[in-house]
Amino acid sequence: MKTQVAIIGGGPSGLLLGQLLHRRGIETVVLERKTKDYVLSRIRAGVLEQGLVALMEEAGCATRLHAEGYAHDGTLLACGDQMFRIDFKALTGKPVMVYGQTEVTRDLYEAREKAGAAIDFNVEDVAIHGADTDAPYLTYSVDGAPKRLDCDFIAGCDGFHGVSRQAIPLEVRREYEKIYPFGWLGILSKTPPVNHELIYANSPRGFALCSMRNHSLSRYYIQCSLSDKPEDWTDDAFWQELKRRIPPDQAAQLVTGPSIEKSIAPLRSFVTEPMRWGRLFLCGDAAHIVPPTGAKGLNTAASDVHYLYNGLRDYYEKGSVMGIDTYSEKALARVWKAERFSWWFSSLMHRYPDQSAFDLKMQAAELAFLASNTSAQKAMAENYVGLPY
Ligand code: APR
Ligand code: PHB
Repeated sequence: MKTQVAIIGGGPSGLLLGQLLHRRGIETVVLERKTKDYVLSRIRAGVLEQGLVALMEEAGCATRLHAEGYAHDGTLLACGDQMFRIDFKALTGKPVMVYGQTEVTRDLYEAREKAGAAIDFNVEDVAIHGADTDAPYLTYSVDGAPKRLDCDFIAGCDGFHGVSRQAIPLEVRREYEKIYPFGWLGILSKTPPVNHELIYANSPRGFALCSMRNHSLSRYYIQCSLSDKPEDWTDDAFWQELKRRIPPDQAAQLVTGPSIEKSIAPLRSFVTEPMRWGRLFLCGDAAHIVPPTGAKGLNTAASDVHYLYNGLRDYYEKGSVMGIDTYSEKALARVWKAERFSWWFSSLMHRYPDQSAFDLKMQAAELAFLASNTSAQKAMAENYVGLPY
């Protein structure tokens, strides 16, 4: 089999890139290790920057997002009993869109199926060959049957545990990583959100986040120990702990109910450089991970897709290699800014096991400065709504 762009990974990065290229008449084949149902069972942050919304529009996949998503003009930051608001709209002129990542992925699958574009599920043993030559190809198997896919380019959109990043030789690759000494215990519940905006809370008992999917589906998180297991936490224990970490007036109006999902996610910052090796391009989680504070994961994947899509368009439509040659540099410049923001926001809001009394005072002073200084709020808001591509 032959295609123009072989895409490894049917997560949001691979599907969005595939759909954008398809609309420009550039042929793609997506190879996904799991089933569609499995991919759609993953629950991840649901805050979309305008850049991603614009890409979904360009991909022809934004109808449901506009009908069912919620534009948020600001967010709330709590520190103990105090709470203040960062007004995105007033500070940047832009809102963010609250719409689940699972729904983004579902919309992209639907569009790909409608377009009749190729996608192979349950693929095994994907291997990349000749990425540094002019004739790259992939080998893999489906139900034990060996397959080969020749292509012009390979998009490595296979997430953090994929094979694409590993295909870049160690002498070329440089990796940067920070592991945080805590996790997030998250639950989804069929209850109305406690507030119409998100609340990020720094409390002496640890971080908490009140988020949502829609008016009757809430997503809440609390910072937990890395040794905790979801089954250690009854729903009741979770709600009690959450109430202790958010301002009393919010706790008083919190509606609780049974959890329909409960899981623990570790926090990690990770970047690999470069994001291109020959005809292989890394995109999204395959190249970088951010801690979830600020919801930059999917949005950073989207900016990669933007640069790669435009680079590939320039190649196929104008015969120019400029876009693909500068892909890694341009993508990484923005990735590092999102890494910085996610690291800063995580550092500001969590309790660290080794925090000294001085460190705690610094955190409190930084929050007090942010609460009262418009320039600091503007910097935060610009990062939260998304830096320009
Ligand atoms: N072969 C084929 N598919 C693979 C392989 C492989 N060897 N390894 C992984 N995959 C698939 C995974 O099953 C998954 O569906 O690649 C997909 C990668 O999807 P994600 O992990 O969701 O990564 P990405 O598409 O880059 O999405 C960006 O934003 O909020 C963040 O982490 C969050 O998913 C999120 C991401
Ligand atoms: C979520 O809704 O899951 C969410 C929202 C904002 C974040 C992280 C996660 O910063």
